Amino acid sequence: MRSNCSLGVEVSLQDKRILVVGASSGIGRAVALQSSAAGARVLLAARRLDRLQEAAREAGPHTHAVACDVRDASSCAAVVSAAVEILGGLDILVYATAIDPLVRLIDADATVWQAVLSTNVIGAALVCRAAIPHLRAARGRAVFISASSVGRPLPGMGPYETSKAALDELVRAWHGEHPEVGFSNVAVGQTLGTEVWTTWDPALMQELTAVWAERGYSFDNGPGAMSVDDAASAVIAAMASRADLRYVVALPPAGSSMPGPEGAENDSEGSAQC
Ligand SMILES: NC(=O)c1ccc[n+]([C@@H]2O[C@H](COP(=O)([O-])OP(=O)(O)OC[C@H]3O[C@@H](n4cnc5c(N)ncnc54)[C@H](OP(=O)(O)O)[C@@H]3O)[C@@H](O)[C@H]2O)c1
Repeated sequence: MRSNCSLGVEVSLQDKRILVVGASSGIGRAVALQSSAAGARVLLAARRLDRLQEAAREAGPHTHAVACDVRDASSCAAVVSAAVEILGGLDILVYATAIDPLVRLIDADATVWQAVLSTNVIGAALVCRAAIPHLRAARGRAVFISASSVGRPLPGMGPYETSKAALDELVRAWHGEHPEVGFSNVAVGQTLGTEVWTTWDPALMQELTAVWAERGYSFDNGPGAMSVDDAASAVIAAMASRADLRYVVALPPAGSSMPGPEGAENDSEGSAQC
């Protein structure tokens, strides 16, 4: 299977050994499935093992599942060891993991900050640290998923946006120290079909989505929304590109729209713009 989004000359993902962290739902899950469909050997990782196993069954042979919690340093090292052992090495690391609590900065206490930074930034640094010797040996790639909203943080997402800005800098820092590994950051826009909003308070969400719409934040990160498959194919395109892609922005395709109140209006079929 080919990605529906191409970024220059493509390298085949056939038989590539790929670790996707954050693969139990949303974009990471779709990246794992698309990688597997392209002939890669894939290890899916996240906390919910049952969800990973279900995705691995859907993907078919040469796909494996291992539980990990990136807030635990030993788990970050262990998941990379498991990938190397099960896959026989590592060609591509994809870090799709993130949490995005909907909270105003005035209400964000130390627990919120610690959870967000340890999941979105420290976990990324530690998984990458464990993977580097293997990626160097394979002259491989590390692809991180960021957000198109960095630089214009959405009200109510301060901790998340701060973590994504830190992640962007972290990826540049890794590149500076290890230019022999291909580091890519894929900043995606609004994507439907993920679980990122499942912990959001509905009343606060209603308040803030009105603010985002009124002040044009929704437009900046769209307009409209894309499917997880579109977002994942932008990530796959970065994974499969021969070019040294440092930063890619993948926004919803022209003509897509956010779902209306009944969720019936979404028209996000088509290719991500990347
Ligand atoms: N959806 C959007 O509109 C959007 C926009 C811009 C950027 N993004 C980015 O896209 C990426 C994927 O997000 P998504 O929207 O697909 O959200 P999602 O469905 O919530 O996926 C997040 C993944 O992270 C995993 N995860 C969370 N905490 C973890 C932990 N402590 N240890 C290991 N895994 C953990 C979750 O699995 P478990 O719960 O099983 O651990 C899940 O597999 C994220 O980096 C997000 O910031 C999304």
